[in-house]
Amino acid sequence: MAQEVRGVIAPGKDEPVRIETIVVPDPGPGEAVVAVQACGVCHTDLHYKQGGISDDYPFLLGHEAAGVVESVGAGVTDVAPGDFVILNWRAVCGKCRACLRGRPWYCFDTHNAEQKMTLASTGQELSPALGIGAFAEKTLVAAGQCTKVDPAVAPQVAGLLGCGVMAGIGAAINTGNVGRGDTVAVIGCGGVGDAAIAGSHLAGAAKVIAVDIDDRKLETARSMGATHTVNSRETDPVEAIRELTGGFGADVVIEAVGRPETYRQAFYARDLAGTVVLVGVPTPEMKLELPLLDVFGRGGSLKSSWYGDCLPSRDFPMLIDLHLQGRLDLDKFVTETIRLDEVEAAFDRMHAGDVLRSVVVL
Ligand code: APR
Ligand code: ZN
Ligand code: ZN
Repeated sequence: MAQEVRGVIAPGKDEPVRIETIVVPDPGPGEAVVAVQACGVCHTDLHYKQGGISDDYPFLLGHEAAGVVESVGAGVTDVAPGDFVILNWRAVCGKCRACLRGRPWYCFDTHNAEQKMTLASTGQELSPALGIGAFAEKTLVAAGQCTKVDPAVAPQVAGLLGCGVMAGIGAAINTGNVGRGDTVAVIGCGGVGDAAIAGSHLAGAAKVIAVDIDDRKLETARSMGATHTVNSRETDPVEAIRELTGGFGADVVIEAVGRPETYRQAFYARDLAGTVVLVGVPTPEMKLELPLLDVFGRGGSLKSSWYGDCLPSRDFPMLIDLHLQGRLDLDKFVTETIRLDEVEAAFDRMHAGDVLRSVVVL
């Protein structure tokens, strides 16, 4: 039986979000219905609301979530009702060239639930943010979007791995391949950059240099494991990073802003054989100009990291276990827990840079 629950809808471009009754169908083949317990507020939700991602209104917002599987459709074997899961927005196919070559994070054929959730009042189909739509009491997803983790973790912490925090940690440990003794610089210390700092610390980096233009952010970055901080409004970050690394530059520089000027800093702040990881998301009009000779004259690698190059089935349970063992403090990322009807206000606080993460708890 389809069921009616409450969910947060973005009704149209730049219109305030509101709570509506939504209809969640029973799971079809390969699908699951999840009772959402927590869902973080991410910049991408705001971008959906503002029209920066698509015009497919109305959106059912929320995509950084954890909850309990309520029911599954035919053929679902990896998860069962009662499982505590983190939702991911890239359920990989397992069959495409990328998957078969062992790089499923580049999968060409990720999928979401085939059935649609609808608005109870009008019957209109909803577009779930990133194929999830978890600012709702229940949501319908593809079973492959559910990854079982240790239920001992608090849901508001588990949900973080569904997007921004996974992107940052993965940029360090998966894409950047940060290892013991490495020097790392992270440019931009919001939620993603802080997670990259925590990931670098976890991986055993010898130095983790945090760069931001805001001293408040640098203070938080220290609590995440940064060993040095640079305010790039006051100090040239390239020179500062070189100085802190014996004149060489960092082994791994993670750009977590998504702008040409900070990318340029990352490019020049790395060791000759170092790696630059771009995890900040640029906008379409941004351009980068670099002397080609400077690209030629350096080895190493220039990489981008999408969703932290994560493999949810591998990374989510591992990171939750490390958190539960006290080796990765994810609690620090949750600034506040809020109710479903407080999402609009949380967008304002996020925009003002006042919170790392507001998490809706249901
Ligand atoms: N130099 C250094 N830091 C900067 C600069 C700059 N020129 N401009 C902004 N910052 C800092 C901000 O002060 C803030 O601390 O970058 C940080 C960005 O953080 P958030 O806005 O909280 O963004 P976050 O959620 O961390 O995401 C970072 O990744 O997922 C993408 O779209 C997201 O592009 C964004 C990036
Ligand atoms: Zn694939
Ligand atoms: Zn997100």
